[in-house]
Amino acid sequence: MSDPQAALAAFTLTGKVALVTGAAQGLGRSIAELFLDVGASVVVADLNGDAAKAAAEDLSTRGPTLGVAMDVSDETAVQAGFAAAADRFGGIDVLVNNAAYRGKANTMDMSVAEWDIMHAVCTRGSFLCLREAVKQMRGRGGGAVVNISSMSAQHPTIFPNMHYDSAKAGVDAITRLAAVEFARDGIRVNSVLPGGMATPGPDKMRAAQAAGGPAIEGPATIPGRSVMGRIAQPVEMARAVLFLASDAASYITGAELLVDGGFTKG
Ligand SMILES: NC(=O)c1ccc[n+]([C@@H]2O[C@H](COP(=O)([O-])OP(=O)(O)OC[C@H]3O[C@@H](n4cnc5c(N)ncnc54)[C@H](O)[C@@H]3O)[C@@H](O)[C@H]2O)c1
Repeated sequence: MSDPQAALAAFTLTGKVALVTGAAQGLGRSIAELFLDVGASVVVADLNGDAAKAAAEDLSTRGPTLGVAMDVSDETAVQAGFAAAADRFGGIDVLVNNAAYRGKANTMDMSVAEWDIMHAVCTRGSFLCLREAVKQMRGRGGGAVVNISSMSAQHPTIFPNMHYDSAKAGVDAITRLAAVEFARDGIRVNSVLPGGMATPGPDKMRAAQAAGGPAIEGPATIPGRSVMGRIAQPVEMARAVLFLASDAASYITGAELLVDGGFTKG
């Protein structure tokens, strides 16, 4: 007699501790929610500490949570956030590098500061969090890291976005290198490359354009361009992240999983 529950156990995070960055809203929050629903304890980390704590409080009806203020681009703040996670839960088994800077700037008049903050949050932030995570995972016999990249790392979809696309390509390079470097520690590292998603991030981009910011162009802005005729709900991305974070993906490392509804093939 087959037992579906036993067969699906590898797809859960029962007893695992996960830290999700940028988890106060959008995709990060959806990942935190799903991870709690499949048995994990979750550290909700965000630049906006009040929002992180409020989200952790809201989500605590689903399972154990901790909200921490953490700017992923700041080494001291990252170390303090991971120390708080270890104090509360004893260490982490899963890291999701989800936080991103979302500003848009035209290539020809982008300031160096704008370029730098994008890379500070997306690439430096992913590196700093990975390093703290590896320290804790080594003491726990391994773990899984999922880096949230973008389809834009492989295929320009929104202009102007040169700093974002290059930072996300850097995130994927971190994935490939870290997968090799930490395989012997039992740590798997993978990327999820989302296509368009219904989160507050893109709304902010449209609001910035309406307020006189750079005009947003590119394939992702063309009505009907998406082959499935719609963008994703965050939970559809969160499920892909869960798969890579779970033991169901035990032989997958260094992968870049496009979850774009076929956008880059259409
Ligand atoms: N929404 C999309 O269409 C889309 C498409 C492709 C990729 N992505 C990627 O998915 C991820 C989530 O996107 P989203 O749309 O949910 O974003 P969002 O802008 O809605 O939320 C991002 C969260 O990250 C936090 N954050 C920003 N800077 C931070 C920092 N320095 N340290 C810690 N937290 C910080 C914000 O406070 C916010 O809570 C990002 O990596 C984004 O690049 C999104």
